[in-house]
Amino acid sequence: MTRSAIVLAAGHGSRMKSQKHKVLHEVCGKPMILHILDTLEKTGLDQVIVVVGQHREKVMEAVAGRADIAIQEEQLGTGHAVQAALPHVREDAESVVVLYGDAPLIQSETLEQLFTVREEAQAAVSVLTADVADPTGLGRVFLDEAGFVSKIVEEKDATPDERQHHVINTGIYAYAADALRRSVAQLRPDNAQREYYLTDTLAILRKDGQPAIPVAVRDVDEIASVNDRLQLANVERLCRRRIIEGWLRAGVTMVDPDSTYIDATVQLAQDVTLLPGTILKGQTVIGAFSEIGPNTRLTDVVVGEHAVVQYSVAVDSRIGAGTQVGPFAYLRPGSDVGERVKVGDFVEIKNSRIGNDTKVSHLTYVGDAEIGANVNVGCGVITVNYDGEKKHKTVVGDNSFVGSNVNLIAPVTIGEGAYIVAGTSVTEDAGDDAFVIGRVPQVTKPNYVRAWKARKKSATSPEGGDSRGH
Ligand code: UD1
Ligand code: CA
Repeated sequence: MTRSAIVLAAGHGSRMKSQKHKVLHEVCGKPMILHILDTLEKTGLDQVIVVVGQHREKVMEAVAGRADIAIQEEQLGTGHAVQAALPHVREDAESVVVLYGDAPLIQSETLEQLFTVREEAQAAVSVLTADVADPTGLGRVFLDEAGFVSKIVEEKDATPDERQHHVINTGIYAYAADALRRSVAQLRPDNAQREYYLTDTLAILRKDGQPAIPVAVRDVDEIASVNDRLQLANVERLCRRRIIEGWLRAGVTMVDPDSTYIDATVQLAQDVTLLPGTILKGQTVIGAFSEIGPNTRLTDVVVGEHAVVQYSVAVDSRIGAGTQVGPFAYLRPGSDVGERVKVGDFVEIKNSRIGNDTKVSHLTYVGDAEIGANVNVGCGVITVNYDGEKKHKTVVGDNSFVGSNVNLIAPVTIGEGAYIVAGTSVTEDAGDDAFVIGRVPQVTKPNYVRAWKARKKSATSPEGGDSRGH
């Protein structure tokens, strides 16, 4: 059976009050339209067509390579949108599912069921319905005695009695391709909104003796759609709960699921532990037995196994196996931290590689640097990477010791096994095994301070002839 999908996404979504097209708003870190494409790809379709309207450039960019595009210049209704898509539907398509770009939580099992019910019954169309507490704004679905759809009435066309009904049309259908082509051609805009209603195809097919088969959705959360930011927040909450439950079932421990946020794009291994206030975003991957949080945000970060990251923020970085980060560390883009490393409190790393078993324990800035393996970077070390115009690189070889409060004034290269004395400002390269010291010689004046303060005091008292103010 050749199967196609038509995704309606021509409406810009004025109620979102946004510069951004509605279907590009993110739910759990992924644009709504991509949730749908992922689900459709999982369903294994032969073709996906996205119907776009005004403000379509960014939508087309987002779906490029994954869907055919149909353009509906004017939004004259859901039936009109499908009409725009039909010329793109493959000749050999047998089943066509129609769904919306603004209802991102639909599951592939549900679509599969919708297809199968129609195909097995050799019916013209099956329609996904839902029994909802609040049907406001939605089309109501009525069934005949045989259990087929007798009619769908839009809210604006409904009588007060019909409005009491709470089985609704989700707007998701599976059609026989020929039945869809035939019925869409017969649509007329004779209703309260002067629109071409896709729902009218069901009445047309019924008149031909081909009534629609209703399929009740298992979980009404799947059909939640987004028209404004309130509904966006609601869909976000539903999606988040689904993701959290999925990972809990997959063997991830969450001490407080309610304060844990995981994007749809994140990957977690078994036996990961997430502590309260953890936010995992983008292409983040966490290895087995690692513990993340509390209060940590990782965006596009790959963490190895048995790592610990607490009270920290990391972006576009790698944290090796067995490494400890935080509390209060900040890994900026391009930080590649090796295995069994310690990145301690108030350490900032940017665009740098840190070798295995190295310690950067406290109050340090490492930028544009290559620090070898088993290096000790003392407290307060700073790579001075910026001269006001350009960024420069710092290299420290394996097994070196960088004493506390050392300034590495880049560009500078230190060899392996070197020893840089605390407080040194390193301005010149030093080779392997080098001992580096650069300090202003210390001056100590014994038995000095009390007498010095007394002298200062008598010099400033009025009797002492202070001349200031005269
Ligand atoms: C539609 C259904 C209604 C159902 C509801 C479920 C019709 C006539 N009514 O109503 O029975 O309960 O969905 O949400 O089909 N779109 C286009 N081009 C258009 C019009 C709409 O692409 O010309 C897209 C919109 O971007 C939107 C979707 O289709 O994503 C739904 O359109 P909308 O006008 O909101 O339909 P509803 O009135 O909600
Ligand atoms: Ca709608």
